Amino acid sequence: MIKQNVSLKKYNSFNIDVKAKEFVEINSKEELIHIVNVIKNKKALFLGGGSNILFTKDFDGIVIHLNMKGIKYENSNSENTIVKANAGENWNKFVEFCLENNLGGIENLSLIPGNVGSAPVQNIGAYGVELKDVFLSCEVFNKDDLSTKEYNIKDCKFGYRSSIFKENKSLIILSVTLKLKNKNHNINSSYGGIKEELIKLNIKTPNIKDISNVVCNIRKRKLPDPEEIGNAGSFFKNPVVKKEKIDWINEKFNNIPFYKIDEENYKIPAAWLIEQAGLKGKEFNGFGIHKSQPLVLINYGDAKGHDIYKLSLTIKEIIFKIFKIELETEVNII
Ligand code: EPU
Repeated sequence: MIKQNVSLKKYNSFNIDVKAKEFVEINSKEELIHIVNVIKNKKALFLGGGSNILFTKDFDGIVIHLNMKGIKYENSNSENTIVKANAGENWNKFVEFCLENNLGGIENLSLIPGNVGSAPVQNIGAYGVELKDVFLSCEVFNKDDLSTKEYNIKDCKFGYRSSIFKENKSLIILSVTLKLKNKNHNINSSYGGIKEELIKLNIKTPNIKDISNVVCNIRKRKLPDPEEIGNAGSFFKNPVVKKEKIDWINEKFNNIPFYKIDEENYKIPAAWLIEQAGLKGKEFNGFGIHKSQPLVLINYGDAKGHDIYKLSLTIKEIIFKIFKIELETEVNII
């Protein structure tokens, strides 16, 4: 049923109170095809968990909330289990389901906000693991020609926080199929923070539940919980630069942290750049920059999306002035 003039506050993790001219909730593929046929060329926004979006104004079209639920086993052998989850499942609930059933591979991605259907869009990643590491395929609906197709890992063109779904907005993810491990032999505990936390807890041979607990502890310490405080996780991507840029910055600021990607390219934590610029923890009228992870912008109460957007532009300007680096926005601005 299409509703009129609906507040989107509870449908975006920034808690921005804008209105959609029209709003409809979709619970199956059939309902989706029906609604796409009905709305024809109307301006439409397909919304999942709303955890990577910043609304800067009312939406003058129809918001289609993708809420298809369901998780099922597709196939298994002695090593792997293939699991398919529908797009509207909450990502962390899906992670918990896998942990309870002893399926390994996504424990490092615990507590990432959002829905299963959004996970491939930005190839979610945390603590040394990315979705693409366990990804098998996803079912994709093309709203332009109403076709449905299974996309494999190549079709998805995954990169760092990117995929074909970021480029082509006609593609709607209906479900995601992952290849998970039955035993604990793919544990990834190499990320610095995880190692330290395991030592602290005196865990020498961690299982997937230990890794998940450790990741949850780190996230709870560093990142604001979107259930309590409006935010959309990292607002910017970590920039990739050449070695000369690192050397140039190092002349002015000591000990710049970086990760080597290949011989030419290095990734710098944007959080470090923002901290060096003196912006960490800055608070304005109801919004600001998080005090322990400055990559995260915050709505403390009733901030306007436009104010947070303006803050993001100011941060970009300041970073460019100091470091001659263009920060790229990770969150979708609407
Ligand atoms: N740092 C600072 N100051 C700070 C915080 C961090 O200088 O206040 C520097 C430190 O050098 C630290 C480094 O930044 O070692 C990395 O920090 P962190 O481990 O928190 O990771 P990140 O690179 O800032 C990325 C993802 C996060 C993900 C973490 C952990 C992006 C854009 N963000 O952040 O993802 O949780 O790694 O793997 O790649 C998200 O996408 O919403 C998100 C939260």
